[in-house]
Amino acid sequence: MKIFLETYGCQMNVSDSSKINYLFAEQGYQPTTVSQEADLIVINTCSVREKPELKIFSALGRYIPLKSNRPELVIAVGGCVAQQWGDKLIKRCPGLDIVFGTHQLDSLPELVTKIRQSRKSVRKSVAVTDFQERPGGLEVMPLPAPGTINAMVTIMQGCDNFCSYCIVPYVRGREYSRPHAKIIEEVRRLARAGIKEVMLLGQNVNSYGLKETGEIGFAELLAKVHEVEGIERIRFTTSHPKDMSDAVISAFATLPKLSPYLHLPLQAGSDAVLQKMGRGYSVADYLAKVDKLRSAVPDIALTTDIIVGFPGESASDFQKTLAMLDRVRYDQIYSFKYSIRPGTRAAEFVDIVPDGEKRDRLARCQARQDEISQEILDAQVGRVSEVLVTGSSKRGAGEWSGRTPENRIVNFLAPAGTQAGDFFQVKIVTALKHSLKGEVIS
Ligand code: 5AD
Ligand code: SF4
Repeated sequence: MKIFLETYGCQMNVSDSSKINYLFAEQGYQPTTVSQEADLIVINTCSVREKPELKIFSALGRYIPLKSNRPELVIAVGGCVAQQWGDKLIKRCPGLDIVFGTHQLDSLPELVTKIRQSRKSVRKSVAVTDFQERPGGLEVMPLPAPGTINAMVTIMQGCDNFCSYCIVPYVRGREYSRPHAKIIEEVRRLARAGIKEVMLLGQNVNSYGLKETGEIGFAELLAKVHEVEGIERIRFTTSHPKDMSDAVISAFATLPKLSPYLHLPLQAGSDAVLQKMGRGYSVADYLAKVDKLRSAVPDIALTTDIIVGFPGESASDFQKTLAMLDRVRYDQIYSFKYSIRPGTRAAEFVDIVPDGEKRDRLARCQARQDEISQEILDAQVGRVSEVLVTGSSKRGAGEWSGRTPENRIVNFLAPAGTQAGDFFQVKIVTALKHSLKGEVIS
């Protein structure tokens, strides 16, 4: 049996997909990248903006017709679109067999068996999208493929923030933190399997443990992960600026394995817009956190998310977002045009920004950031960095690719016998467009 798995959206979906693959591998399925030879097609979907949501329907348009040659093929849709649409998705897409929600990842193998059995009698589709208090599948602990050196570990799921533009709290449910003992068990297991770098994952990692009685907080969790032997680098995402505590900020200074890298979504540089977004911080609050982080770790690399064209965003509001790029000097930004998500509070806002204006603001935002990103890369030339080898470079010919502690990509020639997971001191000699070139020193 072969499984073809297509994943859209954020790292949480990527992590969920690796759990799905793992669950089916245990049942003897092999992964395939060729949809035509699959016995099971799973699409893990994203609804954070309209664009990825629409992609699901074109994907189904491609895969459902494969059933005419392979009547035994089972097609399942999971993730955020599945959660939101539930049964309606099956009605809209004849030929789709299974819709499973964000809390039902672990029930997929059973649902597939059910479909296969029922086919012997009558054709049947199933939908299971209700939220459970504890999302199913959180305790599935996939083992990495041999040679992999980094892995994601989900520490919490769901979001209680309800930012006015965001669909996530509706499709991922309430915040739930995994017991820290389970998280540490998983990190130890990964370290034994050769993992050097873990990425702790959650919609809002800084509020880890706050909703579970007796659970430790995020800063304490970081300290515990830090103790795991074999793990050399720790990163985490996503942080909400309002919950970025002093304890976590000082963890950057006291825990050497904690990479000097942080994704800190700003969304907008105007207080009026931030307030309408319901973000719970002002520009001054955000900058105070940035300054504290930079005084704890002067070279910390920051990245962010920006939304342009939120309802009511004036030209001068947008200028303030541009000003934040200059003030904070992010390594990279992920910027998006505001996309109306039906059911969210912002969907009711009437002062919409025309699409042409949104497009123009997005282009200006990205152009300014491209300059800043390049300046930051250029400034690395001459520095020596500890680079973790992630694999051989795309160019081949003895060239390897790795990451600096700030997560910048470095390509360099390495001695024979080099493998992923090795560390080198590398002198940066050139800055290219999105990466650095270096020479091994030791
Ligand atoms: N429109 C545009 N961007 C959005 N994001 C979340 N919801 C929307 C929306 N409705 C962006 C935010 C968030 C990132 C994951 O996606 O910037 O941080
Ligand atoms: Fe969405 Fe806000 Fe929750 Fe992030 S914090 S997932 S933007 S509601």
